[in-house]
Amino acid sequence: MTKKCNAMSYQHITDFIHKLYGTPDFVPLHVPTFAGNEKAYLMECIDSTFVSSVGKFVDRFEEEVARYTGAAAAVVCVSGTNALHMAMMLVGVERGDEVLTQALTFVATCNAISYIGAHPVFIDVDRDTMGLSPAAVQQWLETHAELRPDGCYNKETGRRIKCCVPMHTFGHPMRVDELAAVCKQWQLELVEDAAESLGSFYKGKHTGTYGKVGAISFNGNKTITTGGGGMLLFQDVELGRRAKHLTTQAKLPHRWEFVHDHVGYNYRMPNINAALGCAQMETLEPFVLNKRETAARYAEFFATVPEMTFVTEPEHARANYWLNAVLLPDKEAQLRFLEYTNDHGIMTRPVWELMNRLPMFAHCQTDSLQNTIWLADRLVNIPSSVR
Ligand SMILES: Cc1ncc(COP(=O)(O)O)c(C=O)c1O
Repeated sequence: MTKKCNAMSYQHITDFIHKLYGTPDFVPLHVPTFAGNEKAYLMECIDSTFVSSVGKFVDRFEEEVARYTGAAAAVVCVSGTNALHMAMMLVGVERGDEVLTQALTFVATCNAISYIGAHPVFIDVDRDTMGLSPAAVQQWLETHAELRPDGCYNKETGRRIKCCVPMHTFGHPMRVDELAAVCKQWQLELVEDAAESLGSFYKGKHTGTYGKVGAISFNGNKTITTGGGGMLLFQDVELGRRAKHLTTQAKLPHRWEFVHDHVGYNYRMPNINAALGCAQMETLEPFVLNKRETAARYAEFFATVPEMTFVTEPEHARANYWLNAVLLPDKEAQLRFLEYTNDHGIMTRPVWELMNRLPMFAHCQTDSLQNTIWLADRLVNIPSSVR
């Protein structure tokens, strides 16, 4: 019989987390760490007066992220959400198209689809990766889609299905190689929402580099931060050039003329944010190792807690463990644990409200979302900052 955790056993969990982080009063979910050249680079940037849309840190930050991830090109953006919006445009998603994605994600994934006037379709995740399930996508397509000479279409809505956007949940890589094969079969573009997974690799390749485009976030709650910011990853250098052009108002290079050849966007990250990014990139790998060690400590501890399972990295993955998570036996236990920990100085959170339950996406098509609902009823994120 499963042993039920009572308040006493939750106390031994909150004691462990307070001790782990060495903070007796309050342990936040995730805070940034500035341990390197941040102040020096920011001062250099301010002294140069190049704090805005041009400056050496922007180019350097892009080069460093490209080198680290193995992308052929990387293009900075003002946010991960902008990066996803740009990714949708670059792969040719148009108004009225459908985009397959997961309901277990942060709202930005679906907002980016909506900015285009496209419609998300929510497909189930795998329980072990918490990311879009290639098997569920294949099954849904076999039932609902057909290939026509000009692409993949939804037989019921008549809309074109253009793209598939998986998300690497909490930094755990999903089965992106398998999904890439499904996308190829059905002529769908693959865009990876890698907002949470800088530092996470799948089968030796960085997340965000399997798809045509990958999008990373540098929001303040991520493994490294630029205050706010995002990055697009490309395997196709030409597409990267196009992204650079569109994110910088589509201005044609000229010494004094202002000529633009397309509707452009002011999505380029300012140099001052990129300065922060360059300093943070220097500490990324130590941060990931530190987070992986924290995850190992949690795994060892939660192995002794009968009703909880600590979420470990999937097979073939090297996860950054951006946000650690535990699984509770059911929704009731999930709520009990959330209440106890938040009452006792440990910041914990459930997973985001599922996208198909938000008013603006409630009408969207879904499959059974069986694993999605199972996970949403059980997942709780626990403190995960770099220690
Ligand atoms: C899955 C996911 N997608 C997109 C974003 C959007 O990134 P940003 O906040 O930088 O716009 C985030 C995080 O904030 C995220 O967690």
